Amino acid sequence: MKRLDEIEWDAFSRLPIEDKKPYLERKEGDGLPFHTLFAQQFDRGALERLCALASRIRFINKSREGALYLKSILAHKRAMLYFSQPSSRTFLSHLAACQILGMTTGSVRDAATSSEFKGESHEDSIRTFSSYFDMIIMRSPVQGLAEKMAWELSNSFRPVPILNAGSGKDQHPTQALLDIYTLVRSFEEKGGIDGRTVVFCGDLMRGRTVRSLSWLLTDFRDVKQIFVAPRELQVSADVVMNLAKKGVDFEVTDDLRAAVRTADAVYMTRIQDEWDSAKGESAKIDTSRFKFGAEELSLLGPDGVIMHPLPRRDEIATCCDRDPRAKYWRQMRNGMWIRAALIAATFGYEKEIMDCGY
Ligand code: CP
Repeated sequence: MKRLDEIEWDAFSRLPIEDKKPYLERKEGDGLPFHTLFAQQFDRGALERLCALASRIRFINKSREGALYLKSILAHKRAMLYFSQPSSRTFLSHLAACQILGMTTGSVRDAATSSEFKGESHEDSIRTFSSYFDMIIMRSPVQGLAEKMAWELSNSFRPVPILNAGSGKDQHPTQALLDIYTLVRSFEEKGGIDGRTVVFCGDLMRGRTVRSLSWLLTDFRDVKQIFVAPRELQVSADVVMNLAKKGVDFEVTDDLRAAVRTADAVYMTRIQDEWDSAKGESAKIDTSRFKFGAEELSLLGPDGVIMHPLPRRDEIATCCDRDPRAKYWRQMRNGMWIRAALIAATFGYEKEIMDCGY
């Protein structure tokens, strides 16, 4: 068992992501994370356990008695939601997940309202939050900040867990968990995820959800990944190299309609123009062929699913919303259940919830 307080930051930060995983696990060594920073921390076994726990929590929560039982699970814990980047779903679903488990919460949603505005460093801010709370759920535009903070806290007197709720352009691990949970639920009675074809479309270069989900899909057998985007926004080399290294079948193309014909799942994403290096840069790119509308819907098979991490702009036409294959609303709600499962598991309550009598 490796410990994050036994390695210097410089050495830890230079490790390949896969080699960081053991340092981030719960001390019980049960295969689940203490700090959740990267999608790469979750192997298939961990995914299956978390999805089962999410479904169990979803079921228990249906009855008043069950909901009250769940509320007792973490009534003795407090969570800090530190979001220095805009968010609706990730913030609210983590908040709701904490509420389901009975946690009390605090939040900072704008660094300008915290003492960071007075020049306090990120490190000191996080140390401050950890003085009052038992878990920090954080979103930041700064790539790698969640990782640095996890190391800082593990080397402090209050080593509380960090959940990365989106960092820079690189990772959004809990989004990938809810995406996998949505695929698991969608194909539950149709043979599962193995052997499926998943099409990613939109801004694949800067969409952190795509990078995280692409990785998790490699935990499944024979899942083909097709990346559809304008040349300027195509998926980045690290994603492609990971798939090539693992021998995963993948395709890079600009033909959405051809891809939809072969798809089991289509994962649409919006143009992430908040990352533009020059104002109006994205608006110069022709994205007209990278939208899902009535024509694309007619090409998708009867068991196909349409997903989107949301928020959307016009990349999925609203005429698709009522089609049973449109799973993006369910996907959003699944986020609450899988995040409740992750939080409960982080604190070691997986077995108790799975075995409870509700
Ligand atoms: N999918 C997602 O991260 O949405 P928000 O930005 O609204 O949290």
